[in-house]
Amino acid sequence: MNPLLLDPPETTETLRLVLRRYQPGDAPAYFAMLERNREHLRDFMPPAMESVHSPLDAELLIRQFMVEWQARNLFIFGIWEKESRQYVGEAYLANADWSIPCIELGYFIARDWTRRGFAVEAARALLALAFEHLRVVRVELQCAADNPASAQVAERCGFRLEGRHRNRARHKDGPLVDRLWYGLLREEWTKPSAAVVEGPSRT
Ligand SMILES: CC(C)(COP(=O)(O)OP(=O)(O)OC[C@H]1O[C@@H](n2cnc3c(N)ncnc32)[C@H](O)[C@@H]1OP(=O)(O)O)[C@@H](O)C(=O)NCCC(=O)NCCS
Repeated sequence: MNPLLLDPPETTETLRLVLRRYQPGDAPAYFAMLERNREHLRDFMPPAMESVHSPLDAELLIRQFMVEWQARNLFIFGIWEKESRQYVGEAYLANADWSIPCIELGYFIARDWTRRGFAVEAARALLALAFEHLRVVRVELQCAADNPASAQVAERCGFRLEGRHRNRARHKDGPLVDRLWYGLLREEWTKPSAAVVEGPSRT
């Protein structure tokens, strides 16, 4: 599959959230979130995010995200809560192997907005996008073994634990930690009943 021929939607909605491709002008909200969440996101931040120290840096990063999207390397979405219109986090699909095809899912939710089911809701929306629009047969997800919140998001979304790589991540303050790998196959995925518009499942 040639990913340049793929045109996934740039906006997708759930019951409580709007997920939208970043665009110029998103930098102030992005930078404000980052300033408030450096500790919360410390072990998750890639170097490009870590090196954002001003609104201008944030604008540059967002424009880099736009370039990566254009090249079909990174489908990255900001997440806004519908009711308050606040920027609450990020979710993305990246590291595709188009010969399979498969892709990796990642996300974060700003600390003040956690524990409301937002990560699960956003992750389910991107699973629908991956299986329906990118036509992948498999989605992968990895998290540190001492990140129960992320592991729980994976399990809530139906991922299966496929492996544990020992000493495969390092916390910013030094210690090594195992990394968990999850996978979800197209045939295991449960398509949301009303497109991707749904709330958190509490079964
Ligand atoms: C991981 C993260 C995205 C979870 O976001 P969230 O919006 O709070 O998650 P949800 O509210 O959708 O919760 C999903 C499940 O995880 C559980 N959970 C959330 N935070 C938890 C915590 N700190 N410890 C244990 N379980 C937790 C919830 O109870 C829920 O399970 P349930 O449906 O069985 O009740 C968020 O904590 C975060 O951004 N952390 C920092 C960045 C990060 O770790 N990103 C992922 C890297 S792999």
